[in-house]
Formats: sequence, C-alpha cells, structure tokens
Amino acid sequence: MNAVNWQGQGRRIHMQEVGTRDGLQAESAFVPTEQKIELVNALSDAGLAKIEVTAFVSPKAIPALRDAEQVLREIRRAPGVVYTALVPNVRGAERAVESRADELNLVMSASESHNLSNLRMTRAQSFAGLAEVVRAVQATGVAINVSLSCAFGCPMEGDVPVPDVLDWCRRYVDELGARGVTLCDTTGMAYPTQVAQLTQAFRTRWPDTELTLHFHNTRGMGLANVLAAIDAGADRLDASLGGIGGCPYAPGASGNVCTEEVVHALTLMGYDTGVDLPRLLAAASQLPGLIGHDVPSQILKAGRRLDLHPCPADFADIAARAASRS
Ligand code: COA
Ligand code: ZN
Repeated sequence: MNAVNWQGQGRRIHMQEVGTRDGLQAESAFVPTEQKIELVNALSDAGLAKIEVTAFVSPKAIPALRDAEQVLREIRRAPGVVYTALVPNVRGAERAVESRADELNLVMSASESHNLSNLRMTRAQSFAGLAEVVRAVQATGVAINVSLSCAFGCPMEGDVPVPDVLDWCRRYVDELGARGVTLCDTTGMAYPTQVAQLTQAFRTRWPDTELTLHFHNTRGMGLANVLAAIDAGADRLDASLGGIGGCPYAPGASGNVCTEEVVHALTLMGYDTGVDLPRLLAAASQLPGLIGHDVPSQILKAGRRLDLHPCPADFADIAARAASRS
C-alpha cells in the first residue's frame, strides 16, 4: 500500500469558485471581458461545482465588474455547473435574472459596522431589502443563497456572537426559504475549533439547507479551517483560483483560500472534489498575466506533491563517490 488516503473515502466535496467575483473585485486592473469569459469557460471545463461569475453591484463601487451582464450572458454553460452571481439589492437581482443567473448570492454582513461600510445600510435595512429581492424573484425559480460576511469575526467589532450569526441564518432559511447559506470569514479571523462549532451548530439545526464555508487565508489558517469544516460536516467550499481576492471594504482583507491548494490537499486525502487538477492549474497559470502580478498560490510555484524533479547533473559522480567510501 503506498497511499494513506482513507480519510475522505470518496466523500463528495463541492468546490465553488469565487475568483471571478471575490478575486477580480479586489484587482485594480480591469480584466478584459473576453478574457473573463474564457477564464470562466476554463473553470467550467475543470469541473467546479459552482462558479460565482460576477457581481451585479454599482459599477461605481466595483468598476472591475462593470461588465457583469456581458460576462454572464456569453459564458458557455456546462451541464451540472451552477452559475451564481453576487447581488446586493433589487436592482442587482433584476440585472442578474435578465442575464440568466442560476442562483443569486445575496450578501449582508453579520456585523453592523461591516454592513454599514460595505453596503451603506444597517443590517435591518439589508434584511428588509433582501427580503424584497426574494419576493421579487420568487416567480422566476432562480435559487437564493445568502452570504453572511464576517460570520467568524469583524475587523472593526471583533467576535460576532454565535447566537447572532445563527439568528440571521434562521431569518434567511426559516423566514425567507433560502436554499443555501454561506458563512464567510471575510478577513481571515476564523480558527479551526470555532469553525467546527459553527459548522456543527448549523448542520444540526438545518440538515437540509446547503451550507457553504468561505475562508480567506489572511492569517494562514485557511486550509486548517477547511479541514475543520469538513470534519464537522461541511461539503461545500468557496475558494479562489490562485488565492486572489478580498473585500475592498474590510481593513486588512486578503485572498481567499486557493482553489488549487484545497483541491490538491483534498484529493490526496481521498475526497472527491470532481475537479481536474491539471486543468485547474492550467487556468491558474493564466492569472498573473491577466491581473498583472504574482498570485499567492503555493501549488502554482511548487507543483503538485508528486511532480518530481530530475536529480542534479552530477548525480552519477556523487553516487559513485559515495559508493567508493562505503
Ligand atoms: N447595479 C447597478 N447600479 C447600482 C446598483 C446595482 N445593483 N445598486 C445601486 N446602483 C447605483 C445607483 O443607480 C446609483 O447610481 P447613480 O449614482 O448613478 O445614481 C448608485 O449606484 C448609488 O445607489 P444607491 O441606491 O444610493 O446605493 P448606495 O450608494 O447606498 O450603494 C450598494 C449601495 C451596495 C449598491 C453599492 O455600494 C455597491 O454596489 N457596493 C458594492 C458592494 C460590494 O460588492 N462589496 C464587495 C463584495 S461583498
Ligand atoms: Zn470573500
């Protein structure tokens, strides 16, 4: 036996790509529309379960995603892949539905200060506005996911009490009938035992609701948090190609957990991510050219664990000398 990959036992983990939204929103360079479309198509071919293609927000707030309509309309739709888009209000929902989004990812923050700085309203105003979105799209059959930013801590307020986070979940799941909830660690404040606690609490209370965990690797705990979430029952993970990303309205924010790093680790451990790693790496290798700088991905630099290297040029001499000494 040469592999100890029994832990995952083929358990399905849905990998959800957010690089084209969470990633590109944080970039100063505008990635041309055609190239965004090609990137999404490459991600579809790589086998991601869901792709957050773009955001239907104010183009003044996030100019990098001002081509949201065109991107979502012109991508190739692979069967089985869910194409989702971030939406902050009714205006965004109308634009996303017209552009044939499969799912709307509604966003508000679990922390009042972050909600005010990111969305310019109180949490109560956000909830009222998002409830209006849910009512407006009900007849279209488009699915609703709700992302709760700062669910593991707020850079301005500190810890957000677990009962508060769960109460926002309750309002979206029980009152508004959301199909899924994403607990977002917007600024990398989550740590593994906390992740296990919140994941378990959610899973126990809403076993039939899709739960996604969304981590940023700001303090190097990203992969540890991913594994803690999986152990506690999570089966959906957001991640971004190359590890790019970060909320422009959260002080100190930085990249998401890196899709190719998570897929690489989970595959070794015996989980079924459905992702073709060589194809994913080929897509990731395009990123520095698209955004004009290096990306955090370790796998892109180091290669996969068993991408072996040739021995040194003078290896035969070294071996002969070592043999002559024995
Ligand atoms: N799509 C396009 N334009 C939109 C829009 C949407 N979904 N929502 C608002 N706008 C436009 C309005 O038309 C208005 O434009 P104008 O200045 O030309 O008249 C402008 O944005 C301001 O609208 P207003 O309703 O006053 O909203 P606001 O200033 O309170 O902004 C947000 C609220 C949330 C819509 C805006 O700040 C935003 O889109 N922020 C981006 C949030 C984000 O993506 N954060 C990172 C991811 S979590
Ligand atoms: Zn994020």
